[in-house]
Amino acid sequence: MVTATKSKAGDIRLGATLFAARALVRLSGVLGDPFADLLRGQENPYPVHERVRTMGPLHRSKLGPWVTASHPLINSILRDKRFGIRTSDGKLPSAQLKDVPKLDVSFLELDPPDHGRLRRLVAPSFGPRTIERFRPAIQRACDDLLDELDHHDTFDLMDQFATRLPLAVVGELLGIGDDRWDEFLQHGAVIGATLDGVSSVKFAKQLRVSLHELEIMFGELIDQRRTDPRDDLTTALVQARAEEKLTADELLNIFGLLAIAGSETTANLIGNGTLALLRHPEQWEQLRDNLDLAPKVVEETLRYESPVQQSQRVPHEDVELHGTKIPANSQVVLLIGAANRDPEVYCEPERFDIHRTDVPDHLSFSSGIHYCIGAPLARLEGDIAFRALATRMPKLKLSGDPKIRRSLVIRGLRSLPLSAS
Ligand code: HEM
Repeated sequence: MVTATKSKAGDIRLGATLFAARALVRLSGVLGDPFADLLRGQENPYPVHERVRTMGPLHRSKLGPWVTASHPLINSILRDKRFGIRTSDGKLPSAQLKDVPKLDVSFLELDPPDHGRLRRLVAPSFGPRTIERFRPAIQRACDDLLDELDHHDTFDLMDQFATRLPLAVVGELLGIGDDRWDEFLQHGAVIGATLDGVSSVKFAKQLRVSLHELEIMFGELIDQRRTDPRDDLTTALVQARAEEKLTADELLNIFGLLAIAGSETTANLIGNGTLALLRHPEQWEQLRDNLDLAPKVVEETLRYESPVQQSQRVPHEDVELHGTKIPANSQVVLLIGAANRDPEVYCEPERFDIHRTDVPDHLSFSSGIHYCIGAPLARLEGDIAFRALATRMPKLKLSGDPKIRRSLVIRGLRSLPLSAS
């Protein structure tokens, strides 16, 4: 599940490499490269997206990759069979820093045919009917967390609700027992944060420990299901392993992928949506008066503050896009968060409006063969969470300044201090 060396020398090398990488990014930022500015992490990335847009549908960053903010172009690249995830030598394009612990996120970072072989093993557990079976468990987890908050005058929505609910759901999906619950929450939160990248030696050490502990936990869960099969995703995967449809490592990596892909992302959907509603009180009131607006809150939040801000693709052959030749194996950065505010596609894209009707699909769940397999589950979680907040905390308001994460990949909050009375 994890590849990394662990030594004092390795840590020193890692510290030096991170320092050098930061210096290069800073320098390119000073030279006016918008992608370098995004790499440094922005509290408000949208003005930088606009700078990217003014450079045309596709431009080359001084740091190497091609970058696009265009909705139609990103959508077509994501669906284009000439593009994939890995270069022709099987590597990921953004060179992995040596000594950084790296979570293997299974088929998210694989091309066909392995991508399809592994995705097909998981897909039946994410169909709308199967997902609907989780509704009572999600509602229960949501109610339990909100019951806890009843005892607090003020609380941090991110720490005490938004990050916990999706982890509870992934725990339920994989069948992690109550006795391991706190442990899963603690280590799950650490690996969830890797979507931001590894920016310090301290975090790299923490990550190594959490990856190791989760590997042990998942290994034990797999052994349990071997002897005591149930009607769940873990049992289905264990059976597929017995039929040699995947290797032991591939099985473990799927657990890692589900733990990482479903937690941080959904937490930020809940946090971003709550903040947007509180900053647009008339829409918060409308939701309180009509809970059936919750799915619209989910969709508009995904568009307006996309929890995943960017993805990457690699052309497997030389391609020409908008008259520009992109050589095979180049890195192409797709700014999903910018595509969702593309004025060519959305009317007044900077406006948060849960009543939008004429919106084409946002790209927050990607597109093409890597389209988010957990989208129905994330939508259900968001729906339940927004309904529950509006019902149980009608007087919800900010009790302090929200703290925004500065990240290239993730759009979300570090904390959202709120009061319910
Ligand atoms: C609001 C919440 C979520 C957002 C915004 C989100 C976003 C995404 C995006 C953008 C991708 C594709 C990345 C790319 O094309 O390079 C993706 C893939 C994936 N997501 Fe989600 N996701 C969310 C929730 C979930 C949940 C709840 C799960 C499962 C528990 C999940 C599991 C996956 C998996 C397994 C993939 C890999 C699909 C593939 O490569 O074929 N996601 N997600």
